[in-house]
Amino acid sequence: MFNLLLKPETKTAYKIFNQIYPFMNPFELHIPTKLYFGKEKSDNFFDQLSEYGSNVLLVTGGGSVKRLGYFDEVLNQLKSRSFNVTHFEGIEPNPLSQTINKAVKIGKENDADFVLALGGGSVMDASKAIAGLIHENESDIWPFVLGEPKYRKMKGALPVATIPTTAATASEVTAHAVISNKDVKGKAPISYPFLKPSASWLNPAFHTSLPLTTTRDGASDIISHAIENYLLGGNDSPLADRYSEGVMETVIQTLPLIEEDPESEELRGQLMWASTLALNGMQVAGREGAPFTLHNLEHSLSGYNHDLAHGRGLATLYPAYLRFLWENDRVLERMALLGDRLFGIEHDDIKEASMAFIQTFEAWLDDNGLYQRLSDVGVPNEAFAQVADYAIATYGGGKELSAAGPIPKSQIIEIFEKTEQQHAGSKLENSVIA
Ligand code: NZQ
Ligand code: ZN
Repeated sequence: MFNLLLKPETKTAYKIFNQIYPFMNPFELHIPTKLYFGKEKSDNFFDQLSEYGSNVLLVTGGGSVKRLGYFDEVLNQLKSRSFNVTHFEGIEPNPLSQTINKAVKIGKENDADFVLALGGGSVMDASKAIAGLIHENESDIWPFVLGEPKYRKMKGALPVATIPTTAATASEVTAHAVISNKDVKGKAPISYPFLKPSASWLNPAFHTSLPLTTTRDGASDIISHAIENYLLGGNDSPLADRYSEGVMETVIQTLPLIEEDPESEELRGQLMWASTLALNGMQVAGREGAPFTLHNLEHSLSGYNHDLAHGRGLATLYPAYLRFLWENDRVLERMALLGDRLFGIEHDDIKEASMAFIQTFEAWLDDNGLYQRLSDVGVPNEAFAQVADYAIATYGGGKELSAAGPIPKSQIIEIFEKTEQQHAGSKLENSVIA
């Protein structure tokens, strides 16, 4: 006799799944990126790059990879394989369209065959945009972003390879690049299957240098990629639920351990892999499509304040957004299920169970230096209406946003205002938030 040690379903989970498992929704999934995990995979990754040509445009950010020695390591690998390397340095966090355009000019002048990103999500996103513009022989990325005239008009891109130095965006596998433009206080994506990187090297050794604040911001972003559709995408894919819970649980458990031991490659590797898995498409497979509402709100905020890190903006929105959903009786069952699965919260009453989830998650944010008001991160009350207008114009088809129901401008402002009830957490003293 086998003795199966299955965790018994709790009351909350039972209430939600006391039905026959539903049919999954149809989906397409294409995950083309060759992934190399671990510092031992360096040679394999650099050998693979020869498939994409011999002229490489190597793109980096504001200088940290040089300071930390990662740049030299990568350059040596490229030189030892006789690649012709052109280096573009200076992609800023929340990459600006104007900087991307400069890199495109240099890439064209040097006949780049492919683009190699060494940096965080900003460098990876910029590299995708550069690869697209060079392929199209265009010179300005902004007209191609969501809401602008050339949106969805790109036909192809040079191959992109990435070496992520943050655990956050999953840009190393996604089809997206998010572009900022200070001139219009805007931030919006381009998104094409051909922007998915051809190869990515996930080297945890390049993450041990990440400052605590950037690590926390990244953790917040990873959770958001799993939680958005988890809450709004319905009950149709129990496996997508378990998968997403696994990603979120890994982040929730690993971040506090990294705070104790920031240079642990083992822990950095766990967080990094959670990051890659959180937005590769598996996390939503079989669920209903649903809007990326937290992201739409956050991109509008960091469009307004270019210094606001994406993950920090998301962290600031979580409590207010979840409480807004709760007060409007939206997706209470999904919150209750997540509370059960992540935190073991059991309640007969779904309203109480979902509030207990919100409170427990808020406590985790607070414990991990991720709990603050919008006014703490450089978005003052006077800006709320302007940001709401941008969110609706860019992400809401000019009408409204939605999350299991409409979110008109007045309610976007209500969510922003609600963040003002969040106190600045005790662990924020060394943060570099704006
Ligand atoms: O500029 P450098 O010198 O490289 O310094 C960076 C930057 O200041 C620093 N950093 C990166 N790796 C480091 C390091 N410092 C020390 N050690 C390391 N190993 O960290 C700072 C932040 O970097 P950034 O790339 O901006 O952060 P992140 O990875 O969070 O990327 C954020 C951008 O990605 C977009 C965001 O909107 C934002 O623009 N996203 C992209 C997505 C996608 N492509 O699919 C999805 C996401 O939801 C997100 O929207
Ligand atoms: Zn994100």
